[in-house]
Amino acid sequence: MPENESTPAQTGLENLLHETRAFPPSPEFAAQANAKPEIYGQAADGPAFWATQARDLISWKKDFTETLDWSGAPVARWFADGQLNAAYNAVDRHVEAGNGDRVAIHFEGEPGDTRTVTYAELQREVSRAANALAALGVEKGDRVVIYLPMIVESVVAMLACARLGAPHSVVFGGFSADALRSRISDAGAKVVITADGGYRRGKPSALKPAVDDAIAPKDGAEASTVEHVLVVRRTGQDTAWTDHRDVWWHDALESADVQHTPAWVDAEHPLFILYTSGTTGKPKGILHTTGGYLTQAAFTHKNVFDLKPESDVYWCTADIGWITGHSYVTYGPLVNGATQVIYEGTPDSPHQGRWWEIVEKYKVSIFYTAPTAIRACMKWGEEIPAKYDLSSLRVLGSVGEPINPEAWMWYRRVIGGDKAPIVDTWWQTETGAIMISPLPGVTATKPGSAQVPLPGIAATVVDDEAHEVPNGGGGYLVLSEPWPSMLRGIWGDLERFKDTYWSRFEGIYFAGDGAKKDEDGDVWLLGRVDDVMNVSGHRLSTTEIESALVSNPLVAEAAVVGAADEVSGQAVVAFVILRGEHAEEASTPEGSATIEKTLRDHVAKEIGPIAKPKKILVVPELPKTRSGKIMRRLLRDVAENREVGDATTLADSSVMNLISSGLNTPS
Ligand code: PRX
Repeated sequence: MPENESTPAQTGLENLLHETRAFPPSPEFAAQANAKPEIYGQAADGPAFWATQARDLISWKKDFTETLDWSGAPVARWFADGQLNAAYNAVDRHVEAGNGDRVAIHFEGEPGDTRTVTYAELQREVSRAANALAALGVEKGDRVVIYLPMIVESVVAMLACARLGAPHSVVFGGFSADALRSRISDAGAKVVITADGGYRRGKPSALKPAVDDAIAPKDGAEASTVEHVLVVRRTGQDTAWTDHRDVWWHDALESADVQHTPAWVDAEHPLFILYTSGTTGKPKGILHTTGGYLTQAAFTHKNVFDLKPESDVYWCTADIGWITGHSYVTYGPLVNGATQVIYEGTPDSPHQGRWWEIVEKYKVSIFYTAPTAIRACMKWGEEIPAKYDLSSLRVLGSVGEPINPEAWMWYRRVIGGDKAPIVDTWWQTETGAIMISPLPGVTATKPGSAQVPLPGIAATVVDDEAHEVPNGGGGYLVLSEPWPSMLRGIWGDLERFKDTYWSRFEGIYFAGDGAKKDEDGDVWLLGRVDDVMNVSGHRLSTTEIESALVSNPLVAEAAVVGAADEVSGQAVVAFVILRGEHAEEASTPEGSATIEKTLRDHVAKEIGPIAKPKKILVVPELPKTRSGKIMRRLLRDVAENREVGDATTLADSSVMNLISSGLNTPS
């Protein structure tokens, strides 16, 4: 890996590769586990393994005859002549199999309201919602944007779209009106499903105004494609209304029929588009299709979490606005007939034991969350989880960023009672489902490592020349064979798809992560090697935040880096050069505080509060190479209060002195 691309995560993990602790599964766990060691051997027959999984785990309206067609690489076609429906697989077939009374969702609202939804009730509600959407003109192939809090209706909305064959595009409720506008317009959405608001940290937080803003006419922008806005009443707050365009969800569903025949779609029919940050300012609409995606979501959910649908209570804390919420709240668990918990709010509302209270209340047995949350809980103190009975937990999962061994050990000991296996799962929006992870009944787990590619997955680490590195070596994580839930492209931009993932190495998928193999051949993820940051497990683009900053009249130039942060993994730190006429304003502490606040709010408005820089430093210059590339590595040194590294390739080597000595004092 080029030296100037080393990441903070890498620096921190470098010395951890000699981890010697290993936790083999207990004989009792191994004996009852869904996945046995033989599964790796079974997967050796390539795509045929996936054909078996597809037939075992998914109900097909029409069976497929061809498993994989890779002739149009890098766009794969899996199970292409098969037909199915995702919502039928997630709901109806469980009711038909006599499990209609099984609880699908235990909903826990942040204010403490609860709702229990069985599979039979879910079937009625999804059917009603599908009929309601159809009445608003949504047809197979039309796109629907979903902008909702974490409530039952979010899952219902996704499944209702899937039932109609209308690809959904869920936009995280924390994104701003501007971010929502660009996603709606890129997807060409016909309908938006939103709510008046949701509860966040003890108070209602409005959502509908952002939708109104996002579809309002704007100078220089084309008229919105949105014809209707379907609004769930969640908080009851006052809501502006546009007659004929806006429709209450409860009104639309009340008058809708409870019977709906799912649209049978081809396996390669688009199921959803999910936008994620890339290395440029423009988010990428990652496209997933139906048959392959569902197969791998169900397979991984069953085997990585060892799900027993009759007895487990599963809880994934992710929001449906992210891929984890798609694959491991909506599709994986429901396709497998699981009983799951959905919680609307934050882990510390109204108190720091809220999550553990929920685990105790519902006897959660499988729990899946992100390292940032574990680190926050560590900070709050282990006496908090100690107040609750967590003995029901039998499998713990981690996702979104590398989990440091201390957090891993704490998770195992304090939350898992020193017995529940931890599965550290590596994957991406693009991969659709988990790719690298221990199997809980098979693998001896190691704190901090995602370890081994799942059966049927060809993941490895290569050097600059695409040669696989030996054990002990480091380089780039790649996927060398197609997999069923792989992205089928970037919505409307095939060239960008090829360029982003398939141009670095011939014929293999470049994930954008640095990785190492330890002496046992286990994989350790080291963080991104591109201009993507990982803040609290959320992907953010440095370029996107830089563009947002530069769009403010105060700013002449901006550079953003992800600096190591104890809780969020990385934190956004921005270096800005002010426009000449504003430079004076930053010369006093009050002036610079005002500028910092203005710019933070500006980023929140342009992208969303998650992208707000933690720190903004006003600087007179930025360090650039002779070709004009900003050397973020040097800025990271400043942001992390380290001695600044080798600056000899700078066009002007005095710049770093200027930055370090002149912070907050414009020239
Ligand atoms: O850098 C890797 C990191 O998250 C990126 C994918 O982000 P996103 O598409 O938002 O999906 C997150 C949830 C799947 C990856 O490129 N990442 C994800 N899981 C891990 C991880 N890094 C280390 N270990 C993980 N378990």
